[in-house]
Amino acid sequence: MTSPIHSLTVQTARPENARDVAVLLDLAFGPGRFAKTAARLREGNRPIEALSLLAFEGDNLRASVQFWPILIGSDPALLLGPLAVDPAERGRGIGLSLMAHGLDKARGLGHGRVVLVGDAPYYAKVGFVPAPSGAMTMPGPVDPARLLVRELTDGAMAGVGGKITACPA
Ligand SMILES: CC(C)(COP(=O)(O)OP(=O)(O)OC[C@H]1O[C@@H](n2cnc3c(N)ncnc32)[C@H](O)[C@@H]1OP(=O)(O)O)[C@@H](O)C(=O)NCCC(=O)NCCS
Repeated sequence: MTSPIHSLTVQTARPENARDVAVLLDLAFGPGRFAKTAARLREGNRPIEALSLLAFEGDNLRASVQFWPILIGSDPALLLGPLAVDPAERGRGIGLSLMAHGLDKARGLGHGRVVLVGDAPYYAKVGFVPAPSGAMTMPGPVDPARLLVRELTDGAMAGVGGKITACPA
């Protein structure tokens, strides 16, 4: 599949990519990534295979993103993350391009809403907005300004709230 960045191709992750992806995530986040509140939602959970996406230029891995099944209260949703771009290749639009690709694909697979914890000014570029104040709670401490949501279909967040929990398939 071709992305808006001409030289980039997006593929679903395969077992043989696992080592390169782990290196990329360690470079991007360091070991501290496992201590974050969002990591609680990945424990005992599995990323959705069709939405575990890698961006390549030629044979070179440039970026990775995953989406995980969760519940907000009793409503299904996706957790986006981690998103990581090769440090040497940042600022080229790769992160936004890969995310936009993933969000489109998620919508096509019938998903309606996505949650993440991250920098609001960055994720606003692909349509994320702050979660309504007090509407939903993560399984640990999170800066409320960094808890962001994105509707994939109109009205998908209306009336949705409660505890955010992992929802392994
Ligand atoms: C955050 C990250 C994914 C961005 O990837 P990237 O490919 O460099 O980003 P893009 O090139 O797609 O986006 C560039 C735009 O986003 C802006 N931007 C990038 N990081 C930003 C941030 N943290 N806050 C606000 N804006 C940001 C840039 O200024 C640029 O804006 P412009 O187009 O108006 O000039 C990358 O820096 C990374 O892997 N960081 C380490 C891991 C991380 O923090 N991941 C996100 C948390 S899950």
